[in-house]
Amino acid sequence: MKLGFIGTGALTSAVVSGLKSHTDNSVPVLLSPRNQEIADDLASRYADVRVATDNQAVLDACDTIMVAVRPQVAREILSALRFRPDHHVVSLIATLSREDIAGLASPAARVTKALPMPMIARRQGATLIYPSDPDMADFFGRLGKVIATDDADEFNALSVVTATFAAYFKYLDTVYGWLKDHGVADAKANDYIATIYKALAHAPDATSDPGFMHLAEEYATRGGINEQVLRELTARGMFDAFAESLGSVHLRILASQS
Ligand SMILES: NC(=O)c1ccc[n+]([C@@H]2O[C@H](COP(=O)([O-])OP(=O)(O)OC[C@H]3O[C@@H](n4cnc5c(N)ncnc54)[C@H](OP(=O)(O)O)[C@@H]3O)[C@@H](O)[C@H]2O)c1
Repeated sequence: MKLGFIGTGALTSAVVSGLKSHTDNSVPVLLSPRNQEIADDLASRYADVRVATDNQAVLDACDTIMVAVRPQVAREILSALRFRPDHHVVSLIATLSREDIAGLASPAARVTKALPMPMIARRQGATLIYPSDPDMADFFGRLGKVIATDDADEFNALSVVTATFAAYFKYLDTVYGWLKDHGVADAKANDYIATIYKALAHAPDATSDPGFMHLAEEYATRGGINEQVLRELTARGMFDAFAESLGSVHLRILASQS
């Protein structure tokens, strides 16, 4: 594989860093020159990462092209490029459909959507792939887990999960802020919350039940303090509001695709 990137921003930097931290990292990488600072930094860190003179030079030298520009500029950038029929185009753009990208990257016939997350830089997390593709399953499988689907609706629904990270950290920060207001030292509060929640994140590994409510119930001892928080937040509609937000993100993702 000769791997090229159109768009060298936060996500490209994470994918390249993850790739080059793996022992089997022999895939050469050619980056588009924007963002110049990020591209130069990656090229200075890894011997087989180079920066092309322009976007077309990336296409001309590579067989697999990852597209990682913002959706607002993607149409203009891609329609100015000459793709080949043998290019494998992998769009990392969260909100453009595979059909949109296929139209813009014609005559390239093989078009895959992939949704890696920034933690791929540490080879953690999971990448969504649509449709299933053995080469991308192998590539992203070395950088974390791969969840592949052949159903565009399922891909779009799964994508909604990626909208929940900031709210998760706000939840943790609410606990942190409360501890600080009650005189707990910064480092101790952070250490306790981070360590406990890391352990909780492993709880699903020990069960075959695909849902999560049984874990909530396991911790919600009847009459206990976990049951109290769960009951009070449920009564105030916090989880209904959260589910409503998931629905509106889903509609936004669907509306952004033609
Ligand atoms: N970051 C995430 O967590 C994440 C997760 C999943 C999917 N995505 C998707 O990945 C894509 C990129 O996201 P990002 O966070 O990496 O954005 P970003 O940091 O803003 O990177 C976008 C890059 O595109 C470059 N660019 C702009 N115009 C260009 C042109 N004409 N030719 C070549 N490159 C050009 C920008 O360069 P300049 O700085 O020079 O303008 C920048 O380096 C988005 O479509 C997003 O939906 C991101």
